[in-house]
Amino acid sequence: MGKICVIGSVNMDLVVQTPHWPSPGETVTGSGFMTVPGGKGANQAIAAARLGGEVRMLARVGADAFGRQLLENLSAAGVQCDDVRVVDGVASGVAVITVCDGENEIVLDPGANHSLTPDDVREFEHHIRDAEMLLVQLEVPLPVVTAAIELAQSVGTPVLLNPAPALALDHDLLSRVTVLTPNEGEAALLAGLSREDASAEELLDVLQSYGVQTVCITQGARGITYRHGGLETEQRSAVSVEVVDTTAAGDVFSGALAVALTEGALFDDAAAFAQNAAAIAVTRAGATPSIPTRAEVESFHA
Ligand code: RIB
Repeated sequence: MGKICVIGSVNMDLVVQTPHWPSPGETVTGSGFMTVPGGKGANQAIAAARLGGEVRMLARVGADAFGRQLLENLSAAGVQCDDVRVVDGVASGVAVITVCDGENEIVLDPGANHSLTPDDVREFEHHIRDAEMLLVQLEVPLPVVTAAIELAQSVGTPVLLNPAPALALDHDLLSRVTVLTPNEGEAALLAGLSREDASAEELLDVLQSYGVQTVCITQGARGITYRHGGLETEQRSAVSVEVVDTTAAGDVFSGALAVALTEGALFDDAAAFAQNAAAIAVTRAGATPSIPTRAEVESFHA
């Protein structure tokens, strides 16, 4: 069982289906409102735990009803939550999500997620040192992400960074990342190139020139393009499934990739495992409820 630490966000997702995206000033009648536990950090932690990792998380929730539900949901999925603390006087992170034809738009209020500090990361050091991989995203403050990546590198723990939501990052920080899993928009922003004009090959060239060991660009229904070390660029098509909701697909991909890599899988096999896990997730509604178990991914593969 791979030991994985996750430092990241925990949100309650307020989800509604819409027949079309509203224009400014327009009200659209939607349907199917749900409150669903989510947050990129929590989704990745739960994906890693359900898929067989031994997962410990560092995070913050508010002292409110959402915070209690979010904590229970993480624990029920098998994530070790001693370092997921409740912060008084701050609301839990909330994401307002509209889903239209399977695609989503998200507005995030980070709330308690922004109470996390670099000192909290330093207190968590022995867990990072003990882990076989650290998994981070960008929904907690950047100084926290920076402290986590620098600390992991100093103690020799590989880092998987899912650079979402999109944010331009320092090249020095990227040089400390072992595996980077951007989507195409995030890859273009990090590389300083235009998403429309740059090819995946060009994006990989620039991102690897910063020193990232492995870059794997997720391209939705078109699959993934990756380069591992100095090797050839590889492309893997997506598994074709009936899409219900793509929310958390990238999170499931990153969580699953971390599990397979910490189990010693070759990168191509780990990527195939992660693609299968994400393919199952998009056939279901919501963030954490859509995350498959290990047995489901194995039978899907078979
Ligand atoms: O990646 C999906 C997640 O992004 C949602 O669960 C939502 O909370 C936002 O953080």
